[in-house]
Amino acid sequence: MKVAVFGLGYVGTVTAACLASQGHDVWGVDVDVAKVDEVRAGRSPVAEPGLEALIAQAVAGGSLHATTSCADALHMAEVSLVCVGTPSAAGGAAELSYIRRSVADIVSALRLVTPPASGHHSVVIRSTVPPGTVEETIVPALSGGLAGAPVTAGAAMCPEFLREGSGVADFFASPLVVVGTADPRVAGTVTSLFGFLEQPVRVVGTRTAESLKYACNAFHATKVSFANEMSRLLRVAGVDSREVMSLFCEDQVLNISPAYLRPGFAFGGSCLPKDLRSLLHLARTNSVDLPMLAGTLATNELTISDIVDRVVACDGRTVALLGLSFKANTDDLRESPNAELAERLLGKGFDVRIYDSVVNPARLIGANRRHIEAKLPHLGRLLTHEPGEALRGADAAIVSSIDPAIRAALLGNPPRHLFDLNGRLGQQIESLPGYEGIGW
Ligand SMILES: NC(=O)c1ccc[n+]([C@@H]2O[C@H](COP(=O)([O-])OP(=O)(O)OC[C@H]3O[C@@H](n4cnc5c(N)ncnc54)[C@H](O)[C@@H]3O)[C@@H](O)[C@H]2O)c1
Repeated sequence: MKVAVFGLGYVGTVTAACLASQGHDVWGVDVDVAKVDEVRAGRSPVAEPGLEALIAQAVAGGSLHATTSCADALHMAEVSLVCVGTPSAAGGAAELSYIRRSVADIVSALRLVTPPASGHHSVVIRSTVPPGTVEETIVPALSGGLAGAPVTAGAAMCPEFLREGSGVADFFASPLVVVGTADPRVAGTVTSLFGFLEQPVRVVGTRTAESLKYACNAFHATKVSFANEMSRLLRVAGVDSREVMSLFCEDQVLNISPAYLRPGFAFGGSCLPKDLRSLLHLARTNSVDLPMLAGTLATNELTISDIVDRVVACDGRTVALLGLSFKANTDDLRESPNAELAERLLGKGFDVRIYDSVVNPARLIGANRRHIEAKLPHLGRLLTHEPGEALRGADAAIVSSIDPAIRAALLGNPPRHLFDLNGRLGQQIESLPGYEGIGW
């Protein structure tokens, strides 16, 4: 396949050389003549293990070319991979001017050159761009700029996951190959372009693909900062944080795993809030700043107030809270965010009816009882025996439980507004008219 790669930086050069090594006819384009000259001479413009050898071999074998001319690169090319920079602009926004410029260059050249035999060209963004860029910037530029041209074009986002320093190895062993597009022809082209990789190409919406790269980088940054905050705290406690974190990583059930990474409602219960507060207290008394860990409590609070705001914005004042404890199959109400939600809605004058199949106020004892008596002194009067009873006449339901009886009651008597806090109620409930999933 003839491929044009725009931008011969870290991503573009690795991409161009690796694709050329697989027999594709690759043309690298850059506005920087020095980089183009380096590739032409069979050398790498960036330092990456293994890259120079791949470039030298591909240039000598005629599968890799470099040019400053978009027209040469796009002559009969089926796909453009845009790998130009998106540095931080003032205020932190991603600077998209290089992307716009290169897409404008692609459009101008496509109007002039001989199109590929398919008559269709795919413009694939590999640079990291904010969600909405492909739909709002690239697609309109292509459809407006190519009206009446001898070629049609579609766009996609295909995030790059390589890391500098191991770019070539990462390219061939990418943890994910994701293409975000609404255009099946572009999906087909990208799937065939990367067909040599072991990972299957996953086709998703463009905004999903754009967001995925940001989610990955935000998570990686969070992991580094988490380990470093633990280290700062443990140092003052005389503990070797490397040993703690090494054991921590051995737990691949709860720690290094998908656990706790599903968007939904706030955390709570008898341990997480209490132990975070204790860690933060230890830090404060030792003059150690842990802004990220402190921020988890702040963001948890926002998760609760966001639901309160969304319920307040609904019409109606009667709410069924289906699920009271902080998670399924426990009657532990200590620091349950659902109990907090009930308290805030009652405080705002809502008529709140509660159903939880596990919670029986008559059987609550000890700290659990004291906690709920302080938060919801009239719990006995608010609790219903059946979910249907809570839903009768309710304007809105807030559901955190996956109890099948709750599901059946929701289907039998759907409320006008349904807030699903955990996203586990299933397709049938999700298609009810008033359904709002939390976290999506
Ligand atoms: N560096 C990484 O490890 C990495 C990994 C994944 C994703 N990304 C993302 O990929 C993108 C590129 O990153 P990079 O580190 O390769 O950038 P880079 O700065 O190394 O390279 C960008 C290249 O684009 C060229 N360029 C600018 N405008 C152009 C135009 N109109 N036509 C042709 N070439 C043009 C520049 O001259 C430069 O050589 C960024 O969005 C980055 O966030 C980077």
